[in-house]
Amino acid sequence: MISEKVESVLNSQINKEFYSAYLYLAMSAFFDEIGLYGFSNWTKVQAKEEMDHGMILFDYIIERDGTVKLEKIDAPEKNFDNSLQVFEKILDHEKYVTESINCVASMSEDECDLATRHFINWYISEQVEEEANARDVITKLKMFGNDKASLYHIDCDLGKREYKAHSYK
Ligand code: FEO
Repeated sequence: MISEKVESVLNSQINKEFYSAYLYLAMSAFFDEIGLYGFSNWTKVQAKEEMDHGMILFDYIIERDGTVKLEKIDAPEKNFDNSLQVFEKILDHEKYVTESINCVASMSEDECDLATRHFINWYISEQVEEEANARDVITKLKMFGNDKASLYHIDCDLGKREYKAHSYK
C-alpha cells in the first residue's frame, strides 16, 4: 500500500515521462525534416526509453496496490532551430525531470515509504546518465558542429544508438 501523497507524485511522474517521450518524438521529427537522420534516431530511441520509464512507474503503482491516474499529456514544444539548440533544450528538460525525481525521493522519505525510496534510486541513476549523455552531445556540437563534415560524423555516431528495453529489476 502506498500513501496518497506518494501515489500522487508517482502518477505525476508518469505524466512527465510520457510528456518526455512526446518531446523527444517532436525533436526526432524536426531532425528528420532537416535531414539529420542520426539525430532523429537518437531522439526516437530516447522517446522509447521515456515510455519505458512511464510504464515502470505504472507497473510499480499497481504492484503496490495503488491507483494509476493518467492525466492529459500536453503537446510538446515544436519550434526548433538547430541541433545545438535542441540538445540544450534536452539538457534543460532532463534537469527538470531530475528535480522531479528528487521530489519523489524526498516525498517517499517524508512518508517513511522505504520501498518507494529504494525503487526511485533506479531513476536517480538514470537521470545522471541522461544529463551526461545530453552534455556529451552539446560538447561535441560546440566544438565541431559548425563544420559540415564533423556534423555528418556526429550524425553517423548518433545513428548507431539502439533501443534496449529498460527494466528496473
Ligand atoms: Fe525519463 Fe529523460 O527522464
